[in-house]
Amino acid sequence: MAIVKCIGILTSGGDAPGMNAAIRAVTRTAMYNGLKVKGIMRGYHGLVSGEIIDFTSSSVSNIIQKGGTILKTARSVEFRTEEGRKTAYENMKAAGIDALVVIGGDGSLTGAATFAREFDVPIVGLPGTIDNDLSGTDSTIGYDTALNTIMDAVDKLRDTATSHERLFFVEVMGNTAGYLALNGAIASGAEAAIIPEWETEADQLSELIDQGFRKSKSSAIVLVAENKATGGAMGLAERIKREYPQYDARVTILGHIQRGGSPTATDRILASRMGAAAIKALMEGQRNVMIGIRDREMVYVPFAKAVSRTKSIDRENGELVKILSM
Ligand code: F6P
Repeated sequence: MAIVKCIGILTSGGDAPGMNAAIRAVTRTAMYNGLKVKGIMRGYHGLVSGEIIDFTSSSVSNIIQKGGTILKTARSVEFRTEEGRKTAYENMKAAGIDALVVIGGDGSLTGAATFAREFDVPIVGLPGTIDNDLSGTDSTIGYDTALNTIMDAVDKLRDTATSHERLFFVEVMGNTAGYLALNGAIASGAEAAIIPEWETEADQLSELIDQGFRKSKSSAIVLVAENKATGGAMGLAERIKREYPQYDARVTILGHIQRGGSPTATDRILASRMGAAAIKALMEGQRNVMIGIRDREMVYVPFAKAVSRTKSIDRENGELVKILSM
């Protein structure tokens, strides 16, 4: 097993609040253990184009509270090609990097797994995505902050929904997962959540209308997970117009607001613990694993499992939304 002396760190895919806290933790823990750290700009794109900078402890000063990522991020097209990955490997070696920490979502970790397999590079991943859709971890870095952003937005929408006695469809992100919508609904006291995981089981919109809203309520807020196939919140509002014209529906798409902002304490702590765990993992000779959190413990999740899309959504939480909105 080759000894790791210099770590390259990159953030990739959609940014997530807490990525900076993770960069800081990786950097400082590595340095504490006598390792060198290099920052790779713009995710895999920077690995291919050789945008690699030497990090010192002060490179990560004053960033724990900042949203976004100081390393910037991208969804690299070049890295998807064999030729791009070969150039990336050559640049990495030329910079003296012998292991990588990759912070990102499922696309980024899938890329990491391919790269590790092709070039025998030790890589440890950190789950950095607001979507919370990686398997083997209870939470991902950025998820809690995004949930809080959704909750604040719905609190505000509630005022106008109540005043005008309207039905609001609030579209939240999630890629193909419904965690933000479902748990955002619980946190904000929304009347329902419509999520892709349950799409084939029932017509969630007609179920919702058929079950009827509480008599004393003349307004309702429904959290809708983005969904290309159904058109998300816009698609539902169009159906309302056609099929249930008695409702005065409005749509709010929260969009990229959900990706920004200062990370919550929960995300900062999670990112700090995971960043430190990534260095420990590399020093122990672990490779091709994502750091996860299960029942408050740090765990190693093989990349293949992390991106397997086998994480199940909590059915009881769906029931809870219904019960609590009665
Ligand atoms: O994966 C994070 C995420 O924010 C998803 O929730 C969303 O579908 C996607 O990224 C949006 O990507 P982009 O910023 O490239 O439009």
